[in-house]
Amino acid sequence: MTREEIQRVQLLFAQLQGALKMATLYPPNHPLPREAQRKLLDLLMEHLAAAEHLTYAFVGGLIFVDGIVLPRESLVYQRFSQFCQEQARIGSLTFFPGIAAGEVEALVQFLNQSQQGDAAAWAVQKGLDHIKIGPITRTGKEERELLARGAYRGTIQILRDIETAIQSREALDVEDVGQLRFLTDTILQQIIQDPPLALRLASIRSYDEYTLHHSVNVCVLALGLGVFLGLPESLLRELAVAAIFHDLGKVAIPLGVVHKAGPLDDLEWRTLRRHPVKGADILSRISQGYRLPMIVAFEHHMQYDALGYPSLAQGWRQHPFSRIVSITDVYDAMASRQPHQPGIPTGKVLAYLREQKGKIFDPDLTDAFELMLASFAEKE
Ligand SMILES: [Fe+2]
Ligand SMILES: [Fe+2]
Repeated sequence: MTREEIQRVQLLFAQLQGALKMATLYPPNHPLPREAQRKLLDLLMEHLAAAEHLTYAFVGGLIFVDGIVLPRESLVYQRFSQFCQEQARIGSLTFFPGIAAGEVEALVQFLNQSQQGDAAAWAVQKGLDHIKIGPITRTGKEERELLARGAYRGTIQILRDIETAIQSREALDVEDVGQLRFLTDTILQQIIQDPPLALRLASIRSYDEYTLHHSVNVCVLALGLGVFLGLPESLLRELAVAAIFHDLGKVAIPLGVVHKAGPLDDLEWRTLRRHPVKGADILSRISQGYRLPMIVAFEHHMQYDALGYPSLAQGWRQHPFSRIVSITDVYDAMASRQPHQPGIPTGKVLAYLREQKGKIFDPDLTDAFELMLASFAEKE
């Protein structure tokens, strides 16, 4: 879906909410609800002129459109999504080309009755040919998987937007960070219920958008380790945001250096090594509540023995979150196939982690990470 299409389906959803609101405030023949429904119909017709259908799906706390998660709408219209699933038992709403004013009106009326009922049967009975109401048919496990994967893809979209904004010298948008947080919370909730899910999610890779997927995979693995260690949920939520932003500073490094095939020369290497400082600088501009992402971005290459970069004052100790991220960072970077470099087998990656215990990596956390991989793999 293009950016404009996404904006249109967001607008469309807001218009549906507007039409519902108007219908509760005014009698059916009042011009205001009529006008709201007409606008909704116009938007639907405009969208469906170029699409075979349009589906909004409600899955737990997330709202999807044609399989893409809408983070902002999921947050803003939580009550509606909950109502659809819990009271009306609606899993999805699909609109088809040819939709007419009467069908929009009937849908608005039905949704406003807010009583428990079989929505799907109702649509068939009313003869709504261009609106299909899908029931909820998922099991708990299927729902968890859908939610986690949807939220994973959503974080990629938001990170992409954040990168574009920073590259065009705009400040980090607090609303984007809030949505990212909402999605990482969603992922966290699923991992708490099904810890091995962390490994399944971390195996989603992209060759074209390596850095974005790497950021999310490092976050997911860090959450897996955090859950395995039994960290409290409040800390895990902070860990998620910190981990996802660990390489944010790379947006300020020329792409030619970040994606270079073959070894870097001296100057390029020095440039790349500035990404922790750059990342901390970008993250320092968001509010006080977000100090941990700044710390983790700054320290993730510092190493356990403090011999990494940037070089720091003597006695500086790496934050435990930076130690966690430094392990999941190297693990993901080695295990996944990057531009110009194939992935390395897990056994070899683990051998490297073991070899660097006490040097690059915190020994206890490295042991825990290895135990986690074994334990989750066993449960799969
Ligand atoms: Fe890094
Ligand atoms: Fe990284």
